[in-house]
Amino acid sequence: MKKMIKIIGLGLWLSAVVLSNASAQQFGKPEDAIKYRKSVFFVMGTQFGQIGSMVQGKVPYDPKVAAESASVVEVMSKLPWPAFAEGTDKGETKAKGEIWMEPGKFKEAQDKLIAETAKLATAGKTGKIEDLKTAFAATAGACKNCHDSFRSK
Ligand code: HEC
Repeated sequence: MKKMIKIIGLGLWLSAVVLSNASAQQFGKPEDAIKYRKSVFFVMGTQFGQIGSMVQGKVPYDPKVAAESASVVEVMSKLPWPAFAEGTDKGETKAKGEIWMEPGKFKEAQDKLIAETAKLATAGKTGKIEDLKTAFAATAGACKNCHDSFRSK
């Protein structure tokens, strides 16, 4: 049993190393990293907005579309973070310097988003708009929490 835990632990460590290497090498230039993260946020925001329109009654609730959007938001919520690499604080970006000065707090805000979007995806699958409303509000809170501290206006 102990040995198995060790092996699993090693596996996780290795995949973490491989993942972080891949992410760091993914971007040739700082501009590419900035473009990448903004594109992810743009898609995430568009899909999230679609759910918002439904829970706010601006467009009719379509459970299938809502569930798909929620799943996309969940996947997207994991992607932008490696693109906040060193040297990507300048250029066409609204990222605040606090991201690199308070990495622990920035990471917490990411983790909060990832946790809330997982609940959003689950809520999407129930097909009940009430579930979606609750999860939408909690997720929106996680977006705002980070933007207030780490994105300039
Ligand atoms: C952990 C921090 C964090 C969280 C959580 C977060 N964002 Fe952002 N977001 C940022 C930062 C930083 C930028 C600025 C990126 C840049 O300009 O380089 C940004 C930019 C954006 C943009 C503008 C993209 C563009 O085209 O320039 C949108 C839209 C957006 N976020 C939507 C969302 C939505 C919707 C959520 C929640 C579902 C969310 N964000 C959650 C940090 C966050």
